[in-house]
Amino acid sequence: MRSRIGLVDPSSCFSSQTLESLIASLANRIGRPRNLVFLFLVICVGYLLVISSTSKTQQFIDNNNLLGLPETDSLLLPENQDVDSITVASEPKRILYWTGYYDRADMIFGMGQEPFIKAGCKVTNCWATGDRTLLEQSDAVIFHAGQFNLSDLPSKRLQHQRYIFYLFETLPLSRNYAVYFSEAADHYFNWTMTHRRDSDVYCAEPYGKIRRKASSPLMEQLPPTLPAGERPVAPAKLMEYVQNHPRLAKKDKLLAWFCSNQKTHGRREDYIRELGKYMPVDIYGKCGNLTCLPKNSDRCNNLLDEYKFYMSAENSLCADYVSEKFYRALKTDIIPVVYGGADYAAYAPPHSYIHVADFPSPKELAEYLMLLDKNQALYLKYFEWKKDYDVLRGPLDGWCDLCEKLNDPQEPPKVYQSMAKWWYDDVPCYPGDSFIKTILNHNNMQE
Ligand SMILES: *[C@@H]1O[C@H](CO)[C@@H](O)[C@H](O)[C@H]1NC(C)=O
Ligand SMILES: *[C@@H]1O[C@H](CO)[C@@H](O)[C@H](O)[C@H]1NC(C)=O
Ligand SMILES: *[C@@H]1O[C@H](CO)[C@@H](O)[C@H](O)[C@H]1NC(C)=O
Repeated sequence: MRSRIGLVDPSSCFSSQTLESLIASLANRIGRPRNLVFLFLVICVGYLLVISSTSKTQQFIDNNNLLGLPETDSLLLPENQDVDSITVASEPKRILYWTGYYDRADMIFGMGQEPFIKAGCKVTNCWATGDRTLLEQSDAVIFHAGQFNLSDLPSKRLQHQRYIFYLFETLPLSRNYAVYFSEAADHYFNWTMTHRRDSDVYCAEPYGKIRRKASSPLMEQLPPTLPAGERPVAPAKLMEYVQNHPRLAKKDKLLAWFCSNQKTHGRREDYIRELGKYMPVDIYGKCGNLTCLPKNSDRCNNLLDEYKFYMSAENSLCADYVSEKFYRALKTDIIPVVYGGADYAAYAPPHSYIHVADFPSPKELAEYLMLLDKNQALYLKYFEWKKDYDVLRGPLDGWCDLCEKLNDPQEPPKVYQSMAKWWYDDVPCYPGDSFIKTILNHNNMQE
């Protein structure tokens, strides 16, 4: 039974058995839910006042943490709210992490309510926990697809619960996951939470996101009037803008690629090898013989500052797959040269990146990069978008959306017939072999 008292989540206020039994006996006597909630809240607040003046406070917080509940006093009621609105607004939604995300039991996002508050979510009455004994009190149960284990699934399932397929890996790396092959996983998941934009909850937490600045002049009239006391920029400075541009100060190298896998489904290695015939490419890591030493020195950590271009090449050409490499480059002052299967125009503003697919072959791309290298003004045009946009690393808005959706009574029931169908049959990744064949043909035709 999920009674109304359950809406306020007694475990968040009490760990003491005597108080629970006191409430239980009051509940028996009073019976009417509204009175009950009010009484409960009064006792709850009273209890907190008492307990906060004793040395038990820390123990109380610790107990809460075991339950994955908030450390803060955010459960205390805001003033000037009547009981009804509180009851509705504070109905907690519990999110159970059935698996972790690799070795992170807290999914990297965190436990309890606090991460939702810290993320600045509009709706924050969600609680995340890894405690499986809370299964039946959970509204959502999240499974990291790679850790979906047929011999380790919940034994009981409630109708209102959403089972969530959680994944940030492209097919070539996740091809063998049991979740694609087992009938037990068919008609099992209600929602998806992945980097694909057709997910029920779009989440790019491990990757990144771009956001228009609140103060962006894009929407305002031009030229902007100057703030009081500010004078126009001196013409002499403007005329020398390009020559002395700080963005270019350290850049004496051309294109860098950091390689962690020698052979990929997307065949980026073949493309880059071909590109290397027409321009210098500095290859760090497994595919090249460059290493920055000493490791973790300031210079190595800021190595990108020395380059004009960064090869942001994905391991596979899959829908909506834009990994953290891209955002790392955008955040730094370097132009990403992208090799990937996403519609980049939907992810980043115009003139913030260069796409290999915009060039008939690596040779033309190399020519263009060298043209930009020689023409600083053309090169610097690729940074103008920074006036209007910010790059976010680790965006958390997917979790906010999840919390909002769990609170939305209009969300219809939904079930995925098969994850294999959704994840790769309906939108297959493009084999790099095919792409390389096309561009090499083009090269041969030219010669
Ligand atoms: C799956 O779960 C079972 C039962 O908990 C466990 O013994 C097994 O090691 C798990 N398999 C994997 C691949 O984690
Ligand atoms: C990398 O290795 C190749 C072949 O082994 C060699 O020709 C080249 O000079 C090396 N480059 C650097 C920067 O050491
Ligand atoms: C979730 O999926 C299960 C299994 O197919 C289904 O029985 C249930 O009605 C679904 N619930 C919601 C809320 O979509």
